[in-house]
Amino acid sequence: MTSAQQTKIGLVVFIVAAGILSMHQTAGNNMDPHVYPPYGPFFEGWYLRVIDTNVNASFGFLFGLVLPAAGENITTEMKSRSLIFPVPSEDIPLLCVSILVNAADAQKLGSPTGCFDPSDYSVLKDGKPVEQDPDDKTPPEFEVRLASNLSYTVTPSGSNFSVRIGEHTFQGETTSPVPWGPGGEGPESWLENLPLPIHWFVYSFRSTVTSYSYTNDATRSVVKGGSTAAGPPVIAHMEKNWGQSFIEAWVWAEGVNPVTDVYFSFSSGLIKEYSFEIPAQLSGYRNPAKGIDCSFHPANSEHTLIHDGCAGTATLDVRSVECHVVIQLSAAPSSFSSCLVTPQPDGFRPGCVESYTAIANVTVHEPLYGIKDSQIIPLSGLEFGGLYMCNGKCPGN
Ligand SMILES: *[C@@H]1O[C@H](CO)[C@@H](O)[C@H](O)[C@H]1NC(C)=O
Ligand SMILES: *[C@@H]1O[C@H](CO)[C@@H](O)[C@H](O)[C@H]1NC(C)=O
Ligand SMILES: *[C@@H]1O[C@H](CO)[C@@H](O)[C@H](O)[C@H]1NC(C)=O
Ligand SMILES: *[C@@H]1O[C@H](CO)[C@@H](O)[C@H](O)[C@H]1NC(C)=O
Ligand SMILES: *[C@@H]1O[C@H](CO)[C@@H](O)[C@H](O)[C@H]1NC(C)=O
Repeated sequence: MTSAQQTKIGLVVFIVAAGILSMHQTAGNNMDPHVYPPYGPFFEGWYLRVIDTNVNASFGFLFGLVLPAAGENITTEMKSRSLIFPVPSEDIPLLCVSILVNAADAQKLGSPTGCFDPSDYSVLKDGKPVEQDPDDKTPPEFEVRLASNLSYTVTPSGSNFSVRIGEHTFQGETTSPVPWGPGGEGPESWLENLPLPIHWFVYSFRSTVTSYSYTNDATRSVVKGGSTAAGPPVIAHMEKNWGQSFIEAWVWAEGVNPVTDVYFSFSSGLIKEYSFEIPAQLSGYRNPAKGIDCSFHPANSEHTLIHDGCAGTATLDVRSVECHVVIQLSAAPSSFSSCLVTPQPDGFRPGCVESYTAIANVTVHEPLYGIKDSQIIPLSGLEFGGLYMCNGKCPGN
């Protein structure tokens, strides 16, 4: 037996044991803000991407706040919480926002980024600072504000956002979410109760976007869109991460074909537990028209991930007792962004690259009947992070 197999078995035993202990807890809706612990490292961040297949354009934004591992220069008090944040340094900021821009004619994903002082940031629930972690049942309802640069409101019936970085402004509105699972279940299912270094929650596979706009004041370009009765809807994918920091190596991907109404999302990489690096994945694929609803996590599945950050390709092959799904992705190497900032234990550091024009080829196998489903999903999002970037580092470094 190889040591990789041993660590894998160890992980499964650990997961199953912890799962039995936590089985009585229902999986829940973790889009809502979490309470920051008194000491770092801890971060929380949100991500939204709009896909408009009517014009082959896609825009997104991401933001988050890092409470670093205990440091010295602790002087800034956050307005919205009683936590004390250190004064952020220029090099390793604690609060960053990126807009991701892939207009129709774009050759490469743009990623204007701004970093801010945490004292300008507020995350409010019922107009007050967050006092309790999500209760796993109630749909999320909260509001994030950051100076005049970000407002993001999530309610059970819809969300709206407005993000401004430099000359770039991206805003829009969505209707209610299409959740990962019932009762607030996310990709981690009951594994969310484990002490994992990072958590991932997909709030909505594909919310309908009523309207959106992206404006660049410098080039005077404006892209506007929204869902109408004619043509496929414009949709938004929405998710959240929280935990200690991003992991050492990962591939993340997500895509929706609004014409055929199929969608998928996955995160796969190396998780460090007890100084072992364990390959892990969380994924889901849905085709409502064919009644296909497959979700995979380490306790119910086996997987292989083949990836080549230089070629812009990744294939996740994952199977459980019920499902066997293969997701092949490929994006032009030139379509990837420059390095995006990622949450690390001491703040935001450049750590991943992303493309909004990957093509996903999803195949669902059925043991006795061969191929059950085969779908192409253009304009998929594909990200290589940490050691899985081309040559294991940011381009140009
Ligand atoms: C969008 O891209 C697809 C190829 O993926 C192409 O067939 C289609 O014509 C494009 N649509 C527009 C409006 O450019
Ligand atoms: C604390 O701030 C001082 C003065 O700005 C600086 O010289 C020092 O390096 C900082 N220490 C840490 C741990 O950031
Ligand atoms: C977003 O929605 C909230 C709640 O409905 C509303 O108060 C707020 O004005 C909206 N913001 C924007 C930018 O549309
Ligand atoms: C924040 O927004 C203002 C306009 O409201 C803009 O001038 C400024 O550049 C933005 N800050 C960053 C860091 O992008
Ligand atoms: C999608 O993947 C399947 C299985 O590997 C392959 O047979 C098929 O040719 C691929 N389709 C495209 C368009 O790449």
